[in-house]
Amino acid sequence: MSDLREILGVRHPILLGPFGGLSSIALTTAVSDAGGLGAYGLYGYDGERIRSTAAALREATGQPFALNIWLPTGDEVEPGPQHTVFAEALEPFYEAVGVDVPARPGKYLPPLDEQLDAIWDAAPAVLSVVFGVPSAEIVEEAHRRGIRVVGTATTVAEATALDVGGVDAIVASGAEAAGHRVSFLRPAEDSLVGTFALVPQVVDAVSVPVIAAGGIADRRGAAAAFALRASGVQVGTAFLATTQSAATDAHRAAIHETAADESVLTRAMSGRLARGARNRTVRAIEASGTIAPFPMQNWLTGKFRAAAGEQNLGELQSLWLGQAAPLARLDDATEVFEELVAGLPGSVGRTAERVRG
Ligand SMILES: Cc1cc2nc3c(=O)[nH]c(=O)nc-3n(C[C@H](O)[C@H](O)[C@H](O)COP(=O)(O)O)c2cc1C
Repeated sequence: MSDLREILGVRHPILLGPFGGLSSIALTTAVSDAGGLGAYGLYGYDGERIRSTAAALREATGQPFALNIWLPTGDEVEPGPQHTVFAEALEPFYEAVGVDVPARPGKYLPPLDEQLDAIWDAAPAVLSVVFGVPSAEIVEEAHRRGIRVVGTATTVAEATALDVGGVDAIVASGAEAAGHRVSFLRPAEDSLVGTFALVPQVVDAVSVPVIAAGGIADRRGAAAAFALRASGVQVGTAFLATTQSAATDAHRAAIHETAADESVLTRAMSGRLARGARNRTVRAIEASGTIAPFPMQNWLTGKFRAAAGEQNLGELQSLWLGQAAPLARLDDATEVFEELVAGLPGSVGRTAERVRG
């Protein structure tokens, strides 16, 4: 099995988790410059926005980075007459941030082909995907261009499907992780395997390197992932809490204040299951029982969430965070990175030094 560092072209097998809607050039760059793989989430980005983002990343770092997309699963709804009904159900939230109930758009998401064309032009070191197995055409085209492909699995069956699909490495994402459960073979509710159980089983089942994700926030988590025979770690929440991230102050505060047993898996914000803080909006939408299917709900709540973000109103944002949130204690992404490096195999001397220091 090839070394993950060689595959990704990095010094340390540490990946920044991509954040759809919340990635920042500064954080992606900080992780890539530190010797890991910075990543940028392109959920909802059209071709033009992908091109300008990739140009900004190239300008900011000479190091490899990953671009991340959500594959269509085929059950995405298109804008239709129900749009207005679901929009009106959310009226109090629009009112709370002072924006009008949004009119029905022509589409909720840019087409996959448009995103891919821009990604091929951008030529990142890595294309990472969630919610499915990339088609043979996508994998072949990426490889033809020297781009590595990383898939994401929440179960052993998904990991096996990705392996058969020809990806170069697999992120095994445990149920502790922040953000969406990216399950694609069975409903997300039926695919909730914890990182500790998932990683070694995926390692046993596939032929490519496995990257552990979910609940890893410090050297202990990193060391545990390698003890489970992961070849790398992908970290989200701990990096999202740093000053380089695009999280609002309210979101950062929620990461610091939400206990491990307080984060919830909810469909309230997007129509798909995701882990975050159970703020007033999540509680109210869940209690209403009215949740539009994905991506309509995501688009509809996105309109007040964006305004709430500008006003730093945490109760009206989606405060994605994982069960390891209380472990996210460092403010600087480079410090988080060094902390994780201290847990890698061969870092024993370094760990002792830091503990003594
Ligand atoms: C705000 C937010 C958005 C996310 N969006 C994506 C995404 O678009 N694509 C993806 O592959 N993972 C996404 N994730 C998951 C992270 O990349 C990462 O795998 C996860 O946070 C790891 O678990 P941890 O938070 O316990 O470290 C997101 C996580 C957060 C917190």
